[in-house]
Amino acid sequence: MAFERTLFIIKPDAVEQRHVGEILAAIETSGLVLRALRMMHLTRGQAEAFYAVHRARPFFDELVRFMTRGPVVVGVLEGDDAIARWRTLMGATDPAKAAEGTVRRRFGRDVGENAVHGSDSPETARTEVAFFFPGYELG
Ligand code: RTP
Ligand code: MG
Repeated sequence: MAFERTLFIIKPDAVEQRHVGEILAAIETSGLVLRALRMMHLTRGQAEAFYAVHRARPFFDELVRFMTRGPVVVGVLEGDDAIARWRTLMGATDPAKAAEGTVRRRFGRDVGENAVHGSDSPETARTEVAFFFPGYELG
């Protein structure tokens, strides 16, 4: 087991529908520790940069429009195996395929508007934490 930090985002759909409190409660109940938290409205440039890995995908424009249509909550979680544990708690990208009780199953609408984001590897976690929390002390 590795001690890890991971970045999460509560996406605009979940903020609009006032699920921030329930999602933070699910995180805290799971045992993951909340280390940083910030509400912000992404610019188009920030959303394009954050999801640059998907730039060539057909859903990229839709994704950037979605992520910029209202405020998001971004934060850092930590704990043993935090990256995988948060992705398990999020559920599958498509809420219809997500396990019962996961955040996406509870609050996601479809494969695009799926309530939350989580880093998918230690490398992306480092990049994504630095993207939203520059200067954050990782030691
Ligand atoms: P995320 O990066 O947001 O945590 O989600 P993920 O790893 O489960 O999924 P990924 O493949 O990285 O896709 C990133 C986000 O792009 C949107 N998406 N839309 N319309 C579509 O077919 C489609 N596919 C993906 C979703 O918001 C997805 O979370
Ligand atoms: Mg992803």
